[in-house]
Amino acid sequence: MAPPRELKSSAGSLDVELTAARGRVRINGRYASMLCYNGMLPGPTLRLRAGDRLNLSLRNDLDEATNLHVHGLHVSPEGRGDNPFVRITPGSSFDYGYELPASHPPGVYWYHPHLHGTVADQVSGGLYGAIIVEDPEPIAASRERVLVVSDVSLDSAGSLRRPTAMERMMGRMGEVVLLNGQVRPRLEIRTGERERWRVVNTCVSRFLRLRLDGQRLQLLGVDSGRRPVPASVEEVLLPPGGRADLLVVTTAGTSRLRALPYDRMGAGGPGNMGGMMGGSDGGGHTLATVEAAGAGAPSPAPVPARQAQRDLRSATPAVHRELVFSAGFGGMMGRGPGGTGFAINGSEFNPDRTDVRAEAGTVEEWTLVNSSPMDHPIHLHVWPMQVVDSPRQVLDDPDWRDVVNVPANERVRVRVAFDDFVGRSVFHCHILDHEDSGMMAVIEVR
Ligand code: C2O
Ligand code: CU
Repeated sequence: MAPPRELKSSAGSLDVELTAARGRVRINGRYASMLCYNGMLPGPTLRLRAGDRLNLSLRNDLDEATNLHVHGLHVSPEGRGDNPFVRITPGSSFDYGYELPASHPPGVYWYHPHLHGTVADQVSGGLYGAIIVEDPEPIAASRERVLVVSDVSLDSAGSLRRPTAMERMMGRMGEVVLLNGQVRPRLEIRTGERERWRVVNTCVSRFLRLRLDGQRLQLLGVDSGRRPVPASVEEVLLPPGGRADLLVVTTAGTSRLRALPYDRMGAGGPGNMGGMMGGSDGGGHTLATVEAAGAGAPSPAPVPARQAQRDLRSATPAVHRELVFSAGFGGMMGRGPGGTGFAINGSEFNPDRTDVRAEAGTVEEWTLVNSSPMDHPIHLHVWPMQVVDSPRQVLDDPDWRDVVNVPANERVRVRVAFDDFVGRSVFHCHILDHEDSGMMAVIEVR
């Protein structure tokens, strides 16, 4: 399997030209007509270091407006930065400029369009690519792979299939799951060698319960979060938009990298409507077959200890907020106070309204309340969130994420430090159909 093309910064900067356009790509020997960056699926991987400048010129050759979001990067939301309010009309270009602070956390990030109302269509159509922010101290591995997972629904002619109204409400699940644009590719690995896998879940609404049959995974971190030492795990849950940074050592033979079934409708609890409403992805999917053969290189050096991460648990929050995520349609789900569909505190997204005003330099505590019987993975732009209380996790570590899943009818508490950057940005459900349906709000930090 050919990995995505890589573009690396040098001497502190990276200049990239991306063109978004319809493209014909080969998926396992058949042609599909999708949306691509630079004719590729996925788009090129951008490799950066903390302190770098990224100059990215985006040309829009689609037949509708678009823009770009650098998901998870801690960069300015204003002007030509990670500005979700920019609109690039067909036939025009926009020059983005992002300055990564010298303290930018290493990790796996990604880019995708973010124009409200079109995000789910454009991302599931094929517009996504990985961004890697390198570690200050390299971690020895015999090979590094960027694994971009996506899903798509194609008709028999290989064209993008329009989602049904029900799929838009529930969050569409592409019928075909792709790894770097291919169905079930074969990854060849040398037995006993340590590889580093950077996994990105670009699926519009599919949760990935990742497992490599019969093997444990060493989890370096998720999103921008870094563990001081890798955690040995059997499984990693990546919500839509989430990423994992893994070390993998395989034993001889063939194993499958799988996404196990995940039920977004209350995970099988009482009132579970998953099967009925398409919330479950059935039997799961094989993402790749991993063939280990030969004798690998001797075990590489241990992972260097990480710098301790910031921990906001001892901070005094300036403000406590409650944010209620509600999903109402057809009288089947709890409607928000305003009687609206997909809403935050009763209101659907309005770019001209500011929903949350925060003061620069403060720490806030947010209680994310899910008042609906389906999970919502919540993403805040620019400022990462530290999970301080969640029903589903053991918090043995400062747990930094930029997508925090709030399970059906549960609540999760997070803390956010509004450091470094001021400006207007957004937070939203990363089931992108829900975002397009209104589950997004504006935050302004001054
Ligand atoms: Cu990955 Cu606001 O999105
Ligand atoms: Cu949602």
